[in-house]
Amino acid sequence: MSSDKKFLDVSHVSKNAAPMPEELAIRIEELSISYKVSLEAKRTLKNAVMRASLRQEARVRSIDAIKKLSLDVPHGSVLGIVGSNGAGKSTLMRCIAGILSPTEGRVTVNGKISTLLALGVGFNPALSGRDNIILGGLASGLTKEEIESKTDEIAEFAALPDGFIDLPVRTYSSGMYGRLSFSVAVSMTPDILLLDEALSAGDAAFKEKSFERMRQLCAEARTILIVSHALATVTDLCDTAIWMHKGSLLSKGKPEEIVDQYLKFLNVGSLPSNYEDM
Ligand SMILES: Nc1ncnc2c1ncn2[C@@H]1O[C@H](COP(=O)(O)OP(=O)(O)OP(=O)(O)O)[C@@H](O)[C@H]1O
Ligand SMILES: [Mg+2]
Repeated sequence: MSSDKKFLDVSHVSKNAAPMPEELAIRIEELSISYKVSLEAKRTLKNAVMRASLRQEARVRSIDAIKKLSLDVPHGSVLGIVGSNGAGKSTLMRCIAGILSPTEGRVTVNGKISTLLALGVGFNPALSGRDNIILGGLASGLTKEEIESKTDEIAEFAALPDGFIDLPVRTYSSGMYGRLSFSVAVSMTPDILLLDEALSAGDAAFKEKSFERMRQLCAEARTILIVSHALATVTDLCDTAIWMHKGSLLSKGKPEEIVDQYLKFLNVGSLPSNYEDM
């Protein structure tokens, strides 16, 4: 795995942290993430000077998106993450991807990561689909030769309408965007694949094809994290699931059980009694 170290090192390991056990792909320890949001209408120099002259503090609100969350993800597991809007699922994925730093706690990742966190994020709208594939490959640490050998395969999988692969991606429909981003993410042969609402891209035919590709990746014993509001995706593909609620990990277990608990919560609108004080 050492050759993969060049890809992405998202470990925020303190100096005397214990080494992560070999069998783990991701270890999350007491992770908290807060966003600082300015409540000022506009962050201008004039406003800052006025505030300073009036000796006012900048009004900042802190949003606790993740609260003391701990989780071990073994290599080869396919983990589904469910939870209401604003539960912190995307924040957690961004942190595992190394895009966001923990406010407290730490995340250690062992392996090469490929992400599909929001459709087409990372694409340059002015470049063609083909050039964006090359960019995606470079960002994932592939060599020029590896990328060249993959470009046709990715373009073929995305199966865009005639000639679109050589047009700027800003001319794509959102479905076409989604098809290309999915194809890029799954073709980078990652050790760890992070998918945030990524399987909803494309039309019914592409959905079937992407499911097939996902099943294949799952069978190849890669570690996959899937955030989805399509709960059937979680029960179909995942071997474990977690339910996040207001930044905390509420429960972890078999996908059917977790989805069942979550559905009951959605219908009833209140937490199961043993979680009531969370
Ligand atoms: N860039 C940001 N700046 C400030 N607050 C943010 C930011 N991104 C998310 N949040 C806040 O963090 C919390 C968690 O948001 P997050 O996007 O992680 O939720 P989610 O579970 O992915 O929700 P959804 O199901 O709607 O995608 C929410 O309260 C949200 O308002
Ligand atoms: Mg989200």
